[in-house]
Amino acid sequence: MAEDATPGKAPNHELSEMRCPVGLDDVDLFGAGAQEHWYESYEILHSQAPVHRLPGEGMAPGTDAYVLTKHEDIAAVVRDQDRFLLPSTGFVRQLVESGEDLSEVPNVNVMVASMATLRPNQEMWRTHRQELTDPWVGPGASRNAAMIQNVADELIERWLDQGAVEFVSEFAQPMPQMVMANILGWPLSDLKLLKYFGDGCVKPFVYGSGPTHKLPPEEVETQFEILDEFKRYTHELILSKRKHPTEDMISFLTEVEYSPLKRKLSDLEINGIVYAMVIGGLETTQYALAEQVQLLVDNPTAWSELKADRTKIRSFTEEGMRLRAPTQGLSTRMTSQDEVFQGVTVPKGSLLHLRWAAANLDPDEWECPLELQLDRKAVTRHLTFSQGARVCPGAHLSRLEQTTAWQTLLDRIDSFTYAKKNDFLHQPGIMLGTLALNLEFTKA
Ligand code: HEM
Repeated sequence: MAEDATPGKAPNHELSEMRCPVGLDDVDLFGAGAQEHWYESYEILHSQAPVHRLPGEGMAPGTDAYVLTKHEDIAAVVRDQDRFLLPSTGFVRQLVESGEDLSEVPNVNVMVASMATLRPNQEMWRTHRQELTDPWVGPGASRNAAMIQNVADELIERWLDQGAVEFVSEFAQPMPQMVMANILGWPLSDLKLLKYFGDGCVKPFVYGSGPTHKLPPEEVETQFEILDEFKRYTHELILSKRKHPTEDMISFLTEVEYSPLKRKLSDLEINGIVYAMVIGGLETTQYALAEQVQLLVDNPTAWSELKADRTKIRSFTEEGMRLRAPTQGLSTRMTSQDEVFQGVTVPKGSLLHLRWAAANLDPDEWECPLELQLDRKAVTRHLTFSQGARVCPGAHLSRLEQTTAWQTLLDRIDSFTYAKKNDFLHQPGIMLGTLALNLEFTKA
């Protein structure tokens, strides 16, 4: 299917600040402009350094980070929670042991603070998900189906008669924002604020350097100011939902009794869950949609197949997420003992940067990995949402948003093409974020 690719994509390699890598010495997944060469880098890493050491880039001084790119390695890591710990584990344990009032500890983000009381161990991690988030964004996400459909319709109506659209700002971005606002019970009139706070949460993942996403000190300070504002805004919202509960997730969280603690949640704990929804639920789905539309413009045969048979939408969105993982990688595990991956010894205490996007193209796992195949077997094997007990808690919601978006776009539009003005550049960091995408289309 790749052969019918439509010409028209600018060579954004040439616009990157970084030279396209030709050998291992050129590979730098985190440098300025790297996001335009990630896919070339993955090929080099797979063949020459599937376990790639980044000296001195670990969490503690004197430790290293390792970039894992093989499907089998990353899948094994995320399935074993005892051996591979979250980098926040030690800090959360310290918070628990300190016995301090966490609302008073300065500069601790509310999500981490809420982990200390709501999910300090694996058992409670599972219950937290089952009782607090699953009913809204996990398996219970289907309760949002009609609302998501309304959001998709409303957004498309805004530009359907214009024949052209900037797809990111007019569809891919507002759709998950509006969906998340509706789920939480966040006023739609404050959508800009939701985006501002969301941008604040992900700042290190966009502008931070290296696998630990370090921000310069002045940027750290700005981030804490934004997060503080976010915390205060959310606090007010929680208080108002306590007084006047409505049919939304925050109201639910003010009322639910959490079984491991045999009590209701505190304001700070609810604030932590809202933070988790905002950091996880906005940009990720935006990037999925923005990449998927490009896959379809580049593969007109796939577009025609989907037009003819909507049951293929699910395979398409899964293949889209495999080929263009919105979260390309996360430094989300540490080794608790010496490990060996692909014959490379990785010492205890190393940081593992799990490169989901590379694992999704691993030639040992996938036949013709770069091809979009709507009939691919076991299409959900990709690692875009991770796997195991800590798999993304919002995967159900995101899948529903994506399938609803494509169902609706395929109903309302006959064909998409690229408008002349596009540079196809992506934002820096670890997310595959197309900055803008000018499309022309024929209304159905
Ligand atoms: C295409 C969309 C999405 C992608 C690619 C994605 C990807 C991921 C990945 C890779 C992780 C890390 C899992 C691990 O460390 O093993 C994660 C965690 C997480 N995701 Fe998502 N995600 C998406 C959508 C969402 C949505 C819609 C929400 C919220 C409704 C969400 C909320 C979270 C949260 C809160 C975590 C942290 C884990 C936890 O607190 O349990 N994500 N996601």
